[in-house]
Amino acid sequence: MPQNPPAGPDRLRGHAQAVAARAHVPYSRAPVGAAVLFESGGWLAAPRLENASFPLTISALQGALALAATAGAAPVAAALSRPLTRGERALLEDWTDGPWRLAAPDLAVREGGAAPVVGAAVRLTLRLPPPPDVAGGAALALAAADRAHVPASDFAVGAAVEDGEGQLVVGANVELDGDWSRGLCAERTALVAARAAGLGPVRRLYVACVRAPGGTPCGGCRQVIAELAPDAEVVVWRGTDPPEVTTPAALLPAAFGGERLSVGQ
Ligand code: THU
Repeated sequence: MPQNPPAGPDRLRGHAQAVAARAHVPYSRAPVGAAVLFESGGWLAAPRLENASFPLTISALQGALALAATAGAAPVAAALSRPLTRGERALLEDWTDGPWRLAAPDLAVREGGAAPVVGAAVRLTLRLPPPPDVAGGAALALAAADRAHVPASDFAVGAAVEDGEGQLVVGANVELDGDWSRGLCAERTALVAARAAGLGPVRRLYVACVRAPGGTPCGGCRQVIAELAPDAEVVVWRGTDPPEVTTPAALLPAAFGGERLSVGQ
């Protein structure tokens, strides 16, 4: 047993700070991480993922809340690697439909929630039995749609991301009822999960629109995929085998990239 293990809030802060190292912040150069804690003691963390099209940036807290929603868990505390903004406090209240208070500038706790006791990370990664094949990944994306939280659309989408080592994570779309703009598509949730879990460069991104086998990644996701998974194969479930296999460049020709953006220089 270690002497004086860090108390709950410090451990949650530590997870937020550690995941910030996985941020994609070529524009601000200001890494941010967020960690959310559940009553069970389980926790999830996510890094900030910027995009050359700034409004498509996924904030660390938005990413962590999306992962929590796909895990079916309600956060009772949240730590940031820097002080929370007013917008982040509002996001917590809107997302969980209840009041939160700041226990410290970088730590919010849900009113009436238990004192944070930080246990084990919620596991994000999995592997497919070898040999890795696109049909197996597409089936995984289809199954991941069960994790969707879609009170607004009732349109569940599942996704999975695979790296070059055969490690996978899954994601699903999440929505805030009454505010359609702050949820995340399945592809983006899976990309957050991949960065959060420390996967290497994306080899394949799988997507399955359960209710619409003809569905393909939306324009916003194409822009995010082009930046975070430029060399990936994009595998689209079509309701039949084999799935469609395409590329980010084919999905988004002449994409707006960040090469000419210079912020804060
Ligand atoms: N959606 C995705 O998850 N991926 C896409 O590429 C298309 C749209 C979700 C977002 C929203 O939750 C619902 O489908 C309706 O737009």
